[in-house]
Amino acid sequence: MKKNPERPTASNLASLWLDELATAVLVTDGDLHLVAINSAAEVLLGLSRDRVVGGALGQWIRLDRYLSHQLHQTLDLDQSITVRARHLQPLRAPEVLADLVISPLHHADTNARLLLEITALDRHQRISREDQLRQQQAISRAVTRGLAHEIKNPLGGLRGAAQLLASELEDPALHDYTRIIIREADRLTNLVDRMLGPNNLPQREAVNVHEVLEHVRGLVSVQLPLGLRISANYDPSIPEILGDRDMLVQALLNLVQNAVQALGDHGEIRLMSSILRQHTVSGQRHRLVARLRVRDNGPGIPEEIRERIFFPMVTGRASGTGLGLPIAQSLAQLNNGVIECNSRPGCTDFDLLLPLESTL
Ligand SMILES: Nc1ncnc2c1ncn2[C@@H]1O[C@H](COP(=O)(O)OP(=O)(O)OP(=O)(O)O)[C@@H](O)[C@H]1O
Ligand SMILES: [Mg+2]
Repeated sequence: MKKNPERPTASNLASLWLDELATAVLVTDGDLHLVAINSAAEVLLGLSRDRVVGGALGQWIRLDRYLSHQLHQTLDLDQSITVRARHLQPLRAPEVLADLVISPLHHADTNARLLLEITALDRHQRISREDQLRQQQAISRAVTRGLAHEIKNPLGGLRGAAQLLASELEDPALHDYTRIIIREADRLTNLVDRMLGPNNLPQREAVNVHEVLEHVRGLVSVQLPLGLRISANYDPSIPEILGDRDMLVQALLNLVQNAVQALGDHGEIRLMSSILRQHTVSGQRHRLVARLRVRDNGPGIPEEIRERIFFPMVTGRASGTGLGLPIAQSLAQLNNGVIECNSRPGCTDFDLLLPLESTL
């Protein structure tokens, strides 16, 4: 019978599945030289497998005395070892807090001797924090919706009555009062509408994220103080995504405007793009995610509001309404994405994460 050449072999399948794992898997020989790694390990090390395979493990991740000892123990005693909550320092990527399982391997026909499974713990913490945030936001949206309904109905009546009154008033000086009532009623309606967030469904089309970023850069650059600079650093390999261009422009514009306001007269904003592999967005793991980052070197988000900035009406600015970020977050979510924030004095990152599954 003719063999189907398309059909994957068992070992092909195994390596495909390995690349789907969120756990970083590294295999070394008896001298701790890397024999193979999966996609999650590439992310952990910050390097592609072509670069690292064949090289010494210690060349890519700092092996302190304790870690070296554990690796050699596993080889010598031929027993698995589990190391909990260890800080690991890859030399080309950020430090991670991780659980580590080191197991001996016995394959007569390969030189694979050691299997390392590394599960990043901050990832779990981040995901459970995100879950919590999502639930809180859903509650806050439900409350806002109920409140908005209660406010908008009487406001409409108030406005109509003021208009009627204006048409009956003979003294023109009194019209100032009805005008104030109408203007304030309109302002409140507008505020409530903004609190409710976007109510249109996204119009999805092929979107070039760099065109969007450059458009936002252009919009903001027009009225930028002299001491402020906006630079760009993009990964050109990011493909077009399926999303609502206007919504993405608005979301990023809100982020960049916040950065401009936080910086005042001096500072730098950097717009960056990159691809994340095996990343969780809104509780779902995606193989590829585009990360559009707005970074500024301003003072950072005030600590007392840092955990609440995505809720409506939370602001650190005297003239702020505290709606820019919740609106941006809703727009991101309508496009299957999420906005995350990391902030400390001198470096604030707002990341718009957009899964690339819907790539054209
Ligand atoms: N890049 C940033 N650096 C420092 N603080 C920030 C930054 N971005 C947001 N913030 C803080 O988060 C708060 C909330 O931002 P948000 O955009 O939701 O509201 P706002 O800017 O105050 O008002 P609005 O956007 O509705 O005009 C801001 O008031 C500010 O204190
Ligand atoms: Mg704002």
